[in-house]
Amino acid sequence: MKDPTREIEQLREELRRHEHLYYVADAPEITDAEYDALMRRLQALEEQHPELVTPDSLSRRVGGKPREGFVKVRHSVPMLSLDNALNEKELRDFDRRVRELLGGAEFRYVTELKMDGLSMAAHYHDWAFVRAVTRGDGQVGEDVTENARTIRSLPLRVRGELTAFEVRGETVMNRRAFERLNAERDEKGLSRFANPRNAAAGSLRVLEPQITASRRLDYYTYFLFVEGRPAFDSHWESLEAMARMGFKVNAHRRLCAGVDEVLAFCAGWETRREELPYEIDGVVVKVDSIQQQVALGFTAKSPRWAIAYKYPARQAITTVENIEVQVGRTGALTPVARLKPVEVGGVTVARATLHNEDEIERLGLEIGDKVVIERSGDVIPKVVRVSSQGSYRKKFHMPSHCPVCGGKIVREEGEAASRCINTNCSARLKESILHFASRGVMNIDGVGEALVDQLVDRGLVKSVADLYDLTEESLLTLERMGRKSAANVLRNIANSRKSPLPRVITALGIRFVGERTAVFLAEHFGSMERIGSATLDELQGAEEVGPKVAESIFQFFREPRNQELIERLFAAGLEFTYKSTRPPGGPLKGLTFVVTGTLPHLSRDEVKKTIETAGGKVAASVSKKTNYLVAGEDPGSKMDKARELGIPILDEEQLLHLVRDN
Ligand code: IVH
Repeated sequence: MKDPTREIEQLREELRRHEHLYYVADAPEITDAEYDALMRRLQALEEQHPELVTPDSLSRRVGGKPREGFVKVRHSVPMLSLDNALNEKELRDFDRRVRELLGGAEFRYVTELKMDGLSMAAHYHDWAFVRAVTRGDGQVGEDVTENARTIRSLPLRVRGELTAFEVRGETVMNRRAFERLNAERDEKGLSRFANPRNAAAGSLRVLEPQITASRRLDYYTYFLFVEGRPAFDSHWESLEAMARMGFKVNAHRRLCAGVDEVLAFCAGWETRREELPYEIDGVVVKVDSIQQQVALGFTAKSPRWAIAYKYPARQAITTVENIEVQVGRTGALTPVARLKPVEVGGVTVARATLHNEDEIERLGLEIGDKVVIERSGDVIPKVVRVSSQGSYRKKFHMPSHCPVCGGKIVREEGEAASRCINTNCSARLKESILHFASRGVMNIDGVGEALVDQLVDRGLVKSVADLYDLTEESLLTLERMGRKSAANVLRNIANSRKSPLPRVITALGIRFVGERTAVFLAEHFGSMERIGSATLDELQGAEEVGPKVAESIFQFFREPRNQELIERLFAAGLEFTYKSTRPPGGPLKGLTFVVTGTLPHLSRDEVKKTIETAGGKVAASVSKKTNYLVAGEDPGSKMDKARELGIPILDEEQLLHLVRDN
């Protein structure tokens, strides 16, 4: 057996290093699960050998040191972290301890989603936001006031009876903002952020607030203190009060009567977590009554009245056996890591995307290395970082010629992607056809990878337009194709002719033109012809079309091959004109709406769009001129005002009825 003194020493040393990498350098080398395991081992050893515990042991500390460059601020009350429960048993153990310590008294738990971001305190004086401080090491944080001020969900002024107080919460970046940020960074040739948490950290802790402003962070609060003490008698009341004051409080929370309800909440969100617009890594469980929280007290590191139920890590470590390249619809080459198959959150993973050459460089990755891979909402898992270098390593080089057609590969100045420039490349053609036929585009069921491979390899389809010339005879020459499936495929292709213009535009696969832009283009121009002949300036007249998108559309229609394709699609009878679905005036014409709270399905932007598309107006505040208040979960003060003025209140469903039925 190992000498405990030495093992404790080693563990502390190792943990200290990883803590620094994680909290200070934002460049961790091991997964959170591995870190937790090391910490647990240390805690266990220290419990067995209390005489070896020193005040500087990491098990008694909460975080890392703040970075140089920010003003340091001491927290009014330490910002502690939570103990983890990794499974049902550990959660039940926690519950048993709570019940014992409360001596049989009745109590309730509050469950909240554990959003994966950075905790931050925000201070208010005379109803105004005055200061924001990151958690730092839990005792002393960094003053990030000017950066936090740019977060739109952090209210600069609040309402209600409380005038001076502190809130604490989580700064997060939602998946969409994260994807957009990384896409922008790809275009600019900058390195990608590994995950939304790192992106949020990197965005909050920058010296220029403008950068934070452009990053679209979000701030959700979960604590409310007045003079360093909880502001209300129960945690639930604090949450409700903060929502009323104008803070963003996560709507997915529950007051639970016992541990079984808590477990049901945890299990429910574990299966639905991918539906959320932001990442969560578990559920935070807190005893609701503040009096009972006080009675339970704290250990050196965390409260006894709360615990974090952690979902199993969706990360794993495995070996990169090879790096291959895939050719996409635009000819862009994507390097993909072939992995030694490994299980991640119940799924076996054998490939992970590496995005582009710069990403491989940033990761410092070579074939043979062991890597940390992560599975999140995306279909293809990604490589987060190299965990250790292989003993035999091989550097990856982007091929100079396309692995599919042998065409030349070009990487243009300022672009992250290398591209196959052969427009006849069969890999590009296959991807274009799959995109054309996919769900939400032309919706041609049955035209999947297996069929497309054969169609292209046998020369039956050389352009997406050829799909409309396919015959039963030609399909029957393919493998695994009987009369019945041939008839199905042909019928589905024929039916796709009825797809409205926005889908046809999306199907063309113009760079930067997705479903949404396609709708705006169709709305604005009314026909394919008018889009194709529009000048750059005219194109920018359509909603959300800026110079970059306009340029891309303009160039697309000037390319002879694309002109030919469009002519053939027209000849095939596809829908090239568009009748706006907006009735003149619209069902909500002349009506003014105000929106408050979180709606079950529509985001703020979407409700606004819905109302405006139907001819209504959306105002910021409730007044006598307001016709309806649309209210979701956690409505703010607008609700009280509307009640006062007797303004009718609608929920999301009622609003949608109003739009449809009028
Ligand atoms: S309460 C003393 N509630 O998870 C209690 N934390 O280790 C401290 N987090 O540092 C936190 N959502 O960054 C709390 N609803 C929530 C949370 C939450 C996310 C984070 C926070 C904290 C860590 C817990």
